[in-house]
Amino acid sequence: MNPVQAPYPATRLRRTRVTPAVRALVRENALEVGDLIWPVFVRSGEGIEEPVPSMPGVMRRSVDKVVEAATEAHALGLQAMCIFPYTGIEERTEDCAGAWDPKNHANRAIAAIKAKFPDMAVMSDVALDTYNINGHDGFVEDGIIVNDRTVEALVKMALAQAENGCDIIGPSDMMDGRIGAIRAGLEGAGHQDVMILSYAAKYASAFYGPFRDAVGASGALTGDKKTYQMDPANSDEALRLVARDLSEGADMVMVKPGLPYLDICRRVKDAFGAPTFAYQVSGEFAMIKAAAQNGWIDEERVMLESLMAFKRASCDGVLTYFAPDVARLMNG
Ligand code: PBG
Repeated sequence: MNPVQAPYPATRLRRTRVTPAVRALVRENALEVGDLIWPVFVRSGEGIEEPVPSMPGVMRRSVDKVVEAATEAHALGLQAMCIFPYTGIEERTEDCAGAWDPKNHANRAIAAIKAKFPDMAVMSDVALDTYNINGHDGFVEDGIIVNDRTVEALVKMALAQAENGCDIIGPSDMMDGRIGAIRAGLEGAGHQDVMILSYAAKYASAFYGPFRDAVGASGALTGDKKTYQMDPANSDEALRLVARDLSEGADMVMVKPGLPYLDICRRVKDAFGAPTFAYQVSGEFAMIKAAAQNGWIDEERVMLESLMAFKRASCDGVLTYFAPDVARLMNG
């Protein structure tokens, strides 16, 4: 018999889209609450919860309020939080000594969360920008962001966080050699199980604008960060940075920002197979919020779609300010 001469499309890809049940069967990726890390801003004082104007729904909280937020996050099933300090201009210095003060408000927040919820994975931020008078991630000498002296300070900063119970050290500074130095410091101090999630491929991005408001760095920053953060035009360089950081002892790596750099997420995962995270940064969050507030997009759907994109691009997890909203939706 002759094969039937098809008067119809030989392959009807629409067949596997016809019903919700079939769509669920063939779905390739899933987003879970366990994939999310919630970034939270902590400030000095007590009983304070102040909104960040450029990030609708996001707060700067005093330590006691961060613990309340952790309680809510824990109840929602969130398993990881990342603590960023807000510091007013009066708390910033040229020597950045606040950064490695074991009792600074970020460290107190880390300790307080771990005391109440030992099973919550707490991540830190390692960079000097939130303590530096000029808003840079490293020390500035004669207008130059110096590398090696900064790395020594970052090690002290990471050790103070580890002493306070931090599970995941998050170097976001982009200095050379900091992963190896922090790893050696942690090992030397008996913190061999403390992880490092390296901001390995971090771009000099305009999408960080609202974050710099949130941590009090906007007014402080002199110049730009292009001598240490990556050029958005580069892609191969991201692979070299990831290779370097993994070889120095990073356990996990990050691509940042997220959505505009999904190609980098995919390349990093394909090349190394290491745990790969994306940071859906403040500007990405603010764009979705602003459009939704104008009634131009459906916030819930765009939020979920944008996060699914990270899974599709092979990320293991995402840092996102939407984390509690996603958890609430998934629980509800
Ligand atoms: C700085 C740091 C930045 C972010 C996290 N850590 C901003 C910057 O590099 O200036 C941005 C996060 C966001 O935009 O949500 N160490």
